[in-house]
Amino acid sequence: MLDTFNEQIMCFPPDHSFSFSFGRWLDTTLGVELIIRPDRQSASQLVARIVANELRINPRLVLGLATGGTMESVYALLVKEHRESKLDFSQCQTFNLDEYVGLAASDKNSYHQFMYEHLFSHVNIDLRNTHLPSGLSPDLEGECQRYEGMILEAGGIDLQLLGIGKAGHIGFNEPLSALRSRTRVKALAPTTIKQNAPLFDDPAKMPRRAITMGVGTILEARRCLLLATGAAKADIIAQAVEGPITSMVTASALQLHPRCTVIVDEDASRKLKEKEYYRWIFENEPEWESYR
Ligand code: GLP
Repeated sequence: MLDTFNEQIMCFPPDHSFSFSFGRWLDTTLGVELIIRPDRQSASQLVARIVANELRINPRLVLGLATGGTMESVYALLVKEHRESKLDFSQCQTFNLDEYVGLAASDKNSYHQFMYEHLFSHVNIDLRNTHLPSGLSPDLEGECQRYEGMILEAGGIDLQLLGIGKAGHIGFNEPLSALRSRTRVKALAPTTIKQNAPLFDDPAKMPRRAITMGVGTILEARRCLLLATGAAKADIIAQAVEGPITSMVTASALQLHPRCTVIVDEDASRKLKEKEYYRWIFENEPEWESYR
């Protein structure tokens, strides 16, 4: 714990993981922490509690949001928290990871609709403070730059929620995405098309491209929180967390992040080698005391 009377010079913003205090370097980098919960519901509950706590500590939180089936239960829990315990979204800003190219915000398969349906329409968020890239912009490159500019203007993302695709992507950062990439248009990989096409009435109509925050953009968030549940994610979670850092599995780049919490259920943890160590951390480290 830093002595608050010490003069601290923060370096490498927005990472803030190193601080200089009376001539000593103090490394507060946590890296990846992996938490295993017994089932999907308790894993989602932990994610929702972390988000709610961060929002209570800082009502002006800049929250990075993710889509996908895994996130639905997290948003349902946040809505419940808003209704039952007055969790206040009125001052927070949100930035979503991605949107399909070619879909209008009103399209029922767009991520704009997903967010409206699962979160925005149920809480007291100011819709003007919610941001997703426009997949219909006539100038997609300009749209990507505008999006990066807005994140910068908001002061950067405080807490970024993440899911993981079966191809190991975060956002739509498909295999071979540059680890320093910024918001841009990305062609979707066959695995992603196979995973998401069934969600469309006509699977053939699923767009083949999307605007996505880059891996570099995501790595600049002050804290990342990735949720993965179900046996279908077990292989890719093991690769992302315990495998080498590789652009073939862009979630593995989170190993470079100063503070990334990965929360999985038992099913998604099956292929991890160091499960006992991860369990010990959750059961014993003071950071997790209030969450146990
Ligand atoms: C989409 C999103 C990703 C998300 C993934 C996971 O591909 N672009 O950001 O991580 O879905 O989807 P699910 O939670 O349905 O497995």
